[in-house]
Amino acid sequence: MTATSLITSAVPLVDITAVGASDTPLQQVMRLARRHGPIFTRRLHGSDRLFVTSLELVSELADEQRFTKSVGPALENVREFTADGLFTAYNDEANWAKAHDILMPAFALGSMRAYHPAMLRVARRLIESWDGHLSSGTPVDVPEDMTRMTLDTIGLAGFGYDFESFARPEPHPFVGAMVRCLDWAMNKLGRDPDVDFTAEDAAFRGDAAFLAGVVDDVIAARTASGDTRTDDLLGLMLGAPHPSDGTTLDAANIRNQVITFLIAGHETTSGALSFALYHLLKDPVSLRLAQRETDELWGDAEDPEPTFEDVGRLRWTRQVLLEALRLWPTAAAFTREAREDTLLGGRYPLRAGEGVAVLTPMLHRDPVWGDNPELFDPTRFDPAVEAARSPHAYKPFGTGERACIGRQFALHEATMLLGMLIHRYRFVDSAGYRLRIKETLTLKPDAFTLTLARRTPAD
Ligand code: HEM
Repeated sequence: MTATSLITSAVPLVDITAVGASDTPLQQVMRLARRHGPIFTRRLHGSDRLFVTSLELVSELADEQRFTKSVGPALENVREFTADGLFTAYNDEANWAKAHDILMPAFALGSMRAYHPAMLRVARRLIESWDGHLSSGTPVDVPEDMTRMTLDTIGLAGFGYDFESFARPEPHPFVGAMVRCLDWAMNKLGRDPDVDFTAEDAAFRGDAAFLAGVVDDVIAARTASGDTRTDDLLGLMLGAPHPSDGTTLDAANIRNQVITFLIAGHETTSGALSFALYHLLKDPVSLRLAQRETDELWGDAEDPEPTFEDVGRLRWTRQVLLEALRLWPTAAAFTREAREDTLLGGRYPLRAGEGVAVLTPMLHRDPVWGDNPELFDPTRFDPAVEAARSPHAYKPFGTGERACIGRQFALHEATMLLGMLIHRYRFVDSAGYRLRIKETLTLKPDAFTLTLARRTPAD
């Protein structure tokens, strides 16, 4: 070893065992990051987790030659109900590469065109429901309805399965079971070893079995229909051969993929839409610009028919979503691990396989974002501004080979719906809503309601 390689720095260790886990652990760890800086180890009940937040360190972690995805403790818990599905598969698990290769065509640009009609159909369901609230003057529950919309969209577009969420007074039971499973996965991270969690674990197993049952129904509906198409996710999972070795996915893996996509494909998009609406409600200038953009496209049409190309033209609306995901990336952390023993930032020793969690909301408040990172400002995503910034400053969809496969799907679906809502309604902050963030491994504005009014030409 050379003399310089011995100059290492100690990472601050912050033991929060005495305080205990919070029911908003992400916001708790954000507070730690603000106090202890861009790298620190949090200790809770004897278990340590290393967090980083700065652009400098995250840029290094994004180097695929030196680092790769790690299935960190949170995802290990999620693995209990998604096993080797794409999100929670280990890098070296054969089914990751196999499913990735088979499913990639479903996320090519051409496929988004194929999903567009299903996305539009579901967007119209939400509007029909919101028109009902408009007539009755009752407020809408934004996160709940966004979840109805995104669940029905992934169900119909990906699997040809209709959850019919808007025909139900309460959300589909899949949603409740899923949220409880995610909550279990989150809370298990902060468990006090002296407390008995047998009842929680039994309830979790019941919910996980329920999710698996729904998935079996989704698969059975397709098999019974005799439909052998391979142009949607389920068709590819059931029938498409691997491009090079010709094998198909096995039944257990298909189940894990369906459950993974039903969860990953709606929960985070729903939160992103909810945060975007919250910010528009509080930022009349951004809202005005978005209204102008939709008016330029659709004029005063009562029921516009957004085309696939229209969605690409809603540039400001998309910037609103990207900025909402900057402040509140709804999948708020991802974990990397070193391929070999190394020094992070040239000074912090890391052993091969040691996990490092990237705390995305704090990366998104790094000084690279300017003096006022808390300010909601979609001009940060103007093309020229974006091009001048490091690509590693913004990671709501993770990084590298294991980054989000559904990013374009989410942005197409969410941009279109947001554009349609902005064009149609005036949003009234009747409850004087103050942002509180609910955490169930993902983030959502808690109890966020708003009242709707019809836009008039003067609005
Ligand atoms: C992976 C975020 C929407 C499917 C990821 C990761 C993040 C993320 C951060 C990487 C996790 C890690 O490194 O551990 C988001 C956000 C979304 C979104 C913020 C919406 C705003 C979607 C949609 C789908 C989807 C709509 C499916 C239709 C997946 C899958 C993976 C993934 C399957 C695992 C990919 C792999 O490892 O091969 N997502 N996602 N996501 N996402 Fe998304």
